[in-house]
Order: sequence, then structure tokens, then C-alpha cells
Amino acid sequence: MADLIEKCTNMVPGLLDWYHDHRRTLPWRSDPTPYHVWVSEIMLQQTRVAAVLDYYARFMNALPSVSDLAGVEEDVLLKLWQGLGYYNRARNLQKAAKVVMEQYNGTFPGTYEELIQLPGIGDYTAGAIASIAFGQAVPAVDGNVLRVMARITGDEGDITRPDTKKRIRQLISDTMPRSLPGDYNQALMELGALVCLPNGAPDCEHCPVRALCTAALEGRTAELPVKKAKAARKVESRRVYLIFREGKVALRRRPKGGLLARLWEFPNELTGDKPEIGNHLTLLEEGPKGKHIFTHREWHMESGIYRAETAELPESWVWAGPEELNEVYAVPNAFDPFKPAVLQYLRKEERV
Ligand code: ADE
Repeated sequence: MADLIEKCTNMVPGLLDWYHDHRRTLPWRSDPTPYHVWVSEIMLQQTRVAAVLDYYARFMNALPSVSDLAGVEEDVLLKLWQGLGYYNRARNLQKAAKVVMEQYNGTFPGTYEELIQLPGIGDYTAGAIASIAFGQAVPAVDGNVLRVMARITGDEGDITRPDTKKRIRQLISDTMPRSLPGDYNQALMELGALVCLPNGAPDCEHCPVRALCTAALEGRTAELPVKKAKAARKVESRRVYLIFREGKVALRRRPKGGLLARLWEFPNELTGDKPEIGNHLTLLEEGPKGKHIFTHREWHMESGIYRAETAELPESWVWAGPEELNEVYAVPNAFDPFKPAVLQYLRKEERV
């Protein structure tokens, strides 16, 4: 234990120097207000930096302050988030923004203890905001940090287990520099993102702490961290109904709870089942196929192109033209394989 404290204390200066020389220039780093840090950290939770950049710019342009976010319409918010996935992140952002407006008069609370009470803010995000935006010396332990720390310390605990995470968090808390906690947390993350890569492919040659890294010294970077395999995903075969009438396509709003809650979709059913207006459809031709992987589920999709013989739609369905499809309704990435065919069909129908 004492030797681990010593090891981690010794790596602080080298890691900070490396971070100052090698960190990526990122928009939320140039002006790390609590709002900027919060939104970027939520976006980055399940999404790569490269994919987040455009979304972040668009989001800040549309909603430059926490009060804008608190007041925005849900549909506009979901449209800004369309394609990022894990849409509860966006809904929780808005819930938390409302709490900040109502309970804190629009000023972000500045401590880990208050931040972690807000919707959608867990241990990692509270630590990131508290340390980066407020300079509070608390750890921010994400998957990158767990991997980096397990290798440096030679920790053989399963990093998906709470006790392993707690041990690593405590070690960081005991050794982080009090003067630069935000930089230090980000240095650990950045090392994980740029050098100490997963899947047995770390770039140890360029690592500032290789001289004291247990995994590197003992040739065990392929074995560490120990991480339990994820449970297998459930596979579903679905048929997607691309339904047209008078230059418009039918969209259906998904229910309030569960997967992709309240987003818009091309109606789809488990293969063999029919959608609500199934008796009023004429199949014109087979459409594209697609596959989408969610965290716990996998959709294998085929599709058909249909003409609706009725203009009447069930509740929570709408007819959408090409503009509305692009600009108004948030249709998740799972349906990307069908969007080009739908747009082509809509244009063709407009000309007829
Ligand atoms: N991943 C998520 N947040 C990050 C940050 N602040 N710096 C580097 N990588 C990150």
C-alpha cells in the first residue's frame, strides 16, 4: 500500500508535464465553465471525442447557457442529440438544468457533494466538473482511468467491480496534486485515450510513466486490466415498414419508457408481426437491410416499401416530408440504413 502511494506520488510531475505538452486542443478545454465541462463530459460518456466535436459546437450554438437548456422544447433537444445515442443523457441534462435554475438560481453548485445530487450526474461526472471547473481535489474515474491505473499499479481486480474502482479512486484521491486536480484527472484520461490504449495495444514507447508502470515492467500490459466479459446481447429480427403516401413517409413516436424513448422511427415490428395499419398497406418492393447494435440488444432488420391506402394514421404517428424528416423529427441512427432510400422515394413521389 505504502509503495503504491509512493509510486503514484512519483508519477505526478512526469504525467502533468506530458499532459501540458501533448493534450488535445478541445473546445471545452479552452473555456472550462461548469456548463461547458458538464455538457462535454456527458456527451463524452459513451461517445468518442471526434464524434462529439460537431455535436458540442451545434449544442452550444443553440443552447449557450444553462437557462437556454432548461427552457428548450424536448423535440428540439432530441434533434440536437440525434445520432449521439443514449438519449436519456439529453433528457437528464435538461432535468438537471431545471434543478440548477430552480434550486441554485442558475448558478452551478461548485462541490462534488452537490453535483452528484443532480440528475444524470454520477461519481465520474461530479468529479470531472468539480475538479476541472472548480479546482476541487476529487478524482474522476472513467474506464480510461481504471485501465491506466490497473496497469501502473498492477491491480489484478476486475475493473467492473465496485471494490476495485473504490480502491483505485482512493489511491488517486490520496496522491493527486492539490493545486491542479482538473489537469491531473484529465492527464490520466488523456494518457488512456492516446497512449495506454485498450485491447493489449498500448504505446508504451511514448508513455511518460513507463519507468514505474508495473504492467510495462513485468510484460503484463496484455493481461491488465482484468475485465469481466459482457453478457451476450439479445438478437431481434425486425421488419421495417417504409410507408409512403402523397410525398410523405410515416413516422411513429416510440413510447415514453424503454429503448429510444420518445424518438421517432419508421414503424417496425418483430418479423412476423404487423404494424397497426398493416391492413391498409400495399407492398411495392423490398427495401434495404440493416443491422444496429445497442448496449444490450442487436437488431437485424429487413424492410419493405409500402403505399398506404389510407391517409389516416394511428395516434402518435405522423406523415413527414423530406424537410421534416431532416429538420424536425429525431430519428435515431438505428434507422440510418433506410434514410437514403426513404429520401430518394420522397423526391420521386414529389415529382409524380
Ligand atoms: N474523456 C472524457 N472526458 C475527457 C476529458 N476531460 N479529457 C480527456 N478525455 C476525456
